[in-house]
Amino acid sequence: MKSKSLFSAFLLTFMSLSAAYSADVHISTGNMSLVLDATPGKELRFLYFGEKLDEADLESLGNSGTAVLRAYPAYGMNCPAEAALSVVHSDGNMSTELVVEGVSDVNEADAEVTKIRLKDTVYPFYVDVCYRTYGDAEMIETWTEILNMEKKPVRLQQFASAYLPVRRGDVWISHLHGSWANEGIVACEALAPGVKIIKNRDGVRNSHTSHAEVMISLDGKPAENYGDVIGAALCYSGNYELKFDTDDSDYHHFFAGINPDASEYVLASKETFATPVLALTYSREGLSGASRQFHDWARKYRLAHGDVERKILLNSWEGVYFDITEDGMDSMMGDIASMGGELFVMDDGWFGGKYPRKNDTSSLGDWTVDTAKLPHGIAGLVEDAGRHGIGFGIWIEPEMTNTKSELYERHPDWVLKPEGRDPVTGRGGTQLVLDLGNPEVQDFIVDMVDRLLSENPGIEYIKWDANMAVMNHGSQYLDKDRQSQMYIEYHKGFASVCDRIRAKYPDLTIQACASGGGRANYGVLPWFDEFWVSDNTDALQRVYMQWGTSYFFPAIAMASHISATPNHQTFRVIPLKYRIDVAMSGRLGMEIQPKNMTQEEKDLCAKAIAEYKMIRPTVQFGDIYRLVSPYDGFNIASMMYCSQDKSEAVFYWWKLEHFCNEHLPRVKMAGLDPDRMYRVTELVRIDNKPLPFEGKVFSGRYLMSTGLEIPYTHNVDHNRRTDWSSRVLYLTAE
Ligand code: DGJ
Repeated sequence: MKSKSLFSAFLLTFMSLSAAYSADVHISTGNMSLVLDATPGKELRFLYFGEKLDEADLESLGNSGTAVLRAYPAYGMNCPAEAALSVVHSDGNMSTELVVEGVSDVNEADAEVTKIRLKDTVYPFYVDVCYRTYGDAEMIETWTEILNMEKKPVRLQQFASAYLPVRRGDVWISHLHGSWANEGIVACEALAPGVKIIKNRDGVRNSHTSHAEVMISLDGKPAENYGDVIGAALCYSGNYELKFDTDDSDYHHFFAGINPDASEYVLASKETFATPVLALTYSREGLSGASRQFHDWARKYRLAHGDVERKILLNSWEGVYFDITEDGMDSMMGDIASMGGELFVMDDGWFGGKYPRKNDTSSLGDWTVDTAKLPHGIAGLVEDAGRHGIGFGIWIEPEMTNTKSELYERHPDWVLKPEGRDPVTGRGGTQLVLDLGNPEVQDFIVDMVDRLLSENPGIEYIKWDANMAVMNHGSQYLDKDRQSQMYIEYHKGFASVCDRIRAKYPDLTIQACASGGGRANYGVLPWFDEFWVSDNTDALQRVYMQWGTSYFFPAIAMASHISATPNHQTFRVIPLKYRIDVAMSGRLGMEIQPKNMTQEEKDLCAKAIAEYKMIRPTVQFGDIYRLVSPYDGFNIASMMYCSQDKSEAVFYWWKLEHFCNEHLPRVKMAGLDPDRMYRVTELVRIDNKPLPFEGKVFSGRYLMSTGLEIPYTHNVDHNRRTDWSSRVLYLTAE
C-alpha cells in the first residue's frame, strides 16, 4: 500500500507493473482517506472512505474482511442492481464492462487531481474516474469524464458523478427540502431497505424543493456535535438525483449525479462528457463538524470571493416592489447610508422600452432603462449612490423573457418550447425561459450584462434572478435527435455565460436569486458571491430555513435581511430586535421601506449595523457550531460562530414560542478554547438593565460545560413587552 506522500513514486512503479499487481490508490486530505484498488486490467474497486488511515492500516486494509465493491458500476455485465453508468453503444449493445487502464496525477494551482482511466473490454469507450484534493481543505471532489472513441455516437442513459458504498448499521440521512418561501427545511430519516431518491426536475433552479446535498450520519440519529458523518454535495445547477439503494447486501449504495430523467445524452464520436463534481467530506464531529468542512472549502475554493467581507445592503424589493422612481431610490439610498449601510440594490421594475416593466407581465429581455421612472438613467443612480457614500447594485433576470416584450417579438425562436406547440407560460401569465443552449442567446445575455456594466462602471453588485421552471420541454436550437439533451445544454450554456462574464468582471459581486432560494447550490457558487435564502423574510421561519441551509453553506453566502412587520409573506408581527438578531446570523442586509420606520427603529438598526461590522469577520469567516436545533422541540434555537483562532465568538439564542413558566434548556457553548477567558458583551441590547454576565469574564471551559443562563424574556418597560425574545452575545478572549 502506498500513501499519498509516496504517490508520485508509486505512480511510476504502478504504471510499469504487471496487471496482476494489486495496486491501491490512496486519495487523502489532512484527515480523510479514500482508497481504491486500481489493478490494471481489473475492475476498479472501492476499498475505503473515512478517517485518515496511516501506513499500518493501509497495509492491513485488505485483511479487514471488507467486501470488495466496484467503484463505478456500469450496467450490463454482472450489474443486477443500480448502476452508475448505463450506455447504449453505437451498435446498440447495452452492456459496458470497465477495467482499469492506468492512473495519472496532475498538479493544479491549489490542488492535486488523480484520474483513474477505465476502458471498456470490447469498445473504445473510456471513463476517467477523477478525484481532486486540496492541501488545506477537508474535501474530496470526485467526478467522471466519459470519452467516446467509437466511430459513431453512443447514448448515455445514466451517468452518475460518483458512487459510494456506505456500510449498513444505524445510518441516517439529513437533507433539505421545502418549497417556495419555505426553503432549506431539514428532513432527517433512517435509511431503510428500498430506494430513497432525492431529486429535482425544475430545469432552471434546483433548491426550492429538495437540495442536492446530504449528510449521512453513520452511527445513529444525527447529532450536531458528535458522531461520524459523511457530507456530500453535488455541485450542479440543474436537475440532479441523489439515490440510496439499500438492497440485500450489507451496503447502502449511494449514487449522485445529473438527473437522467428525460436527459439521455448523445455523446458524439471523440466527445468527452464531464459529469459535475460531487464534493465529499467526512467528520467525526457530527453534523456541525461536516458543515465546518463544507464552509471552509467553499470559502477557499467554491464560492466567489469567499475571502472578502460582504457589504451591508438595502434591497428595494419589499420596500417599493415595482414602484421604482428616481426620488424613491434616492431616499432609500440616503436612509441606508444614514444607518451605516454600505450598498443599495435596486430590484425589479427599472427597465422596458415599448413595454415598461410595471408588474410581472412584461418586459424581461428589454434591458433598457425606463426613463419615465429614471430620467437620469442608471448613471444618475450610480452617481447618487456615490454622493451618499455607498455602492450601487441592480437586479436583472437574464435567462427569461415575456411574451409581451420586444425581445420575444424579435426572437420567438429563442425560447424553450417543443416544436409545433404553443408554450405554457409562467410568472405573470407571460414569462418564458430562454434557450441557453443556443449560442446566440448566450451572446445576447453576455452582451447585455457587458453593456450594463461597461456603461455604468459604478455598478458593483448584480442580483441575478430566475423566476421560472422549464415548463416546455423542447429546444428550438437543438437537433431533433438531441432534444433529450435540453436540460444539460441549458446548464452548459449557463456555465459558459457565467464564465464569460466573470472573465471580464472578476470583482463584481453577484447574488444568485431564483424566486428566493432556488439557486442555493455549489454548481453556481463559483461565479456567485451569495444567494438569496428565501423570498420569505419572516424572522421566525428564517430560523428554520437558515438552520438547514447552514448545514452546507457558510453565513457569508446566505443573504439575510431585516424586513417589515407585519411580515409580507407570513403577516406575522415580530419585534425589530428579533428580526435583527436573526438577520445578523447571516450576511446582514435590509429589505424594507425605511421611510416607514420610526427614528427609534432606525436607531436600533444603525446600532445593529455598527455592531455587525464588529462581528462580521467572525460571522462570515468563522467556524459554525450549531447548539440547539429549532427542529428538536426545545422551543429555542441556538448556534454560534467562533473565529478560526478562537479569540472571538458570537452566540445566538432565539426563543421560538412563548409559554409562561416553561423550562428552557440552558445552552452549552462549543468551539471555544477551554483554557482562555472570554468577556461577554450583549449586542443589540434593548433591556433596561444589563444582563448579569454583561462585561464579565468566563473560561471557555465553563461556557462549554455549563453555559450562561439566558433570561426567557426582555427586561423592558411594561408597554414594550412582547412574546418574543432573542439574544446575541459577543465573546472576546482576554
Ligand atoms: C423574485 C425574487 O426572489 C425577489 O427577491 C424579487 O427580486 C422578485 N423576484 C422581483 O421580481
